[in-house]
Amino acid sequence: MSARHFLSFKDCTPDELNGLIRRGMELKDLRNRGVLFEPLKNRVLGMIFEKASTRTRLSFEAGMIQLGGQAIFLSPRDTQLGRGEPICDAARVMSRMLDAVMIRTFAHSTLTEFAANSRVPVINGLSDDLHPCQLLADMQTYQEHRGSIKGKTAAWIGDGNNMCNSYIEAAIQLDFQLRVACPEGYEPDARLLEEAGDRVQVVRDPREAVAGAHLVSTDVWASMGQEDEAAERMALFRPYQVDRALLDAAAEDVLFLHCLPAHRGEEISEDLLDDPRSAVWDQAENRLHVQKALLEFLVEPAYHHA
Ligand code: CP
Ligand code: NVA
Repeated sequence: MSARHFLSFKDCTPDELNGLIRRGMELKDLRNRGVLFEPLKNRVLGMIFEKASTRTRLSFEAGMIQLGGQAIFLSPRDTQLGRGEPICDAARVMSRMLDAVMIRTFAHSTLTEFAANSRVPVINGLSDDLHPCQLLADMQTYQEHRGSIKGKTAAWIGDGNNMCNSYIEAAIQLDFQLRVACPEGYEPDARLLEEAGDRVQVVRDPREAVAGAHLVSTDVWASMGQEDEAAERMALFRPYQVDRALLDAAAEDVLFLHCLPAHRGEEISEDLLDDPRSAVWDQAENRLHVQKALLEFLVEPAYHHA
């Protein structure tokens, strides 16, 4: 199959990623100025959600409508996917009717298998391994608030989860340093760490990770699908809460990001989202703009009139 997919940051070159971020900023400006821009008229995005979502669903759905197209929400609960229809068969059928498919799933292999059998672009809306669309928004937000991330240092505090893995891929592709502070046994993907080499450092002490960092980010301690481990994780991750004092140990112009949803009093202190160093609301909004840039990049423009 020849379609271009976005399953990870590795599916684009650094130039393409920077182009998407720039384009996200342009599309944001167009929307703020009330300019209609509908290159995807008649185009349809299918969205398969095996897990809950607020931002991802809304941003893709609103984004497609704003670009002139439509989005269809597909839940395994009421499609044949939930009754065991093989992914490869679903991909063949769906991709004959849709112009792109976004999937939020557990096993990353669901995405790769769907993509291998799809005629149209497949977008990773989060898997257990990666969350690349969120990283596009994070990188756009950093660019808007502080300029280029190239050569800067980011710190990831807490669980070495899907977000952390995507931060590693972003560090490789966009050329910045990353320090990960996590408890033993909760490290990010070992192969990604090996690939990143000196670019990524894993430490145990959050203060060591944030020292001089320009960007600090964290995420929930128990991701979707890990609900059974929540109590155990709560106790173990307690020393990894990000609060104002921890940000004080970072660079003076540090930017705090969180993909949301956040748990105040757990991975962040009650007051952190109100700190002037936090840009989480812009970050959430940027999901819309940068994913519109991604859809514009991946999906063929509108049909010609007959
Ligand atoms: N950050 C993010 O992906 O949010 P949702 O789970 O609400 O989509
Ligand atoms: N790591 C979290 C991110 C949610 C947007 C999860 O996978 O649940």
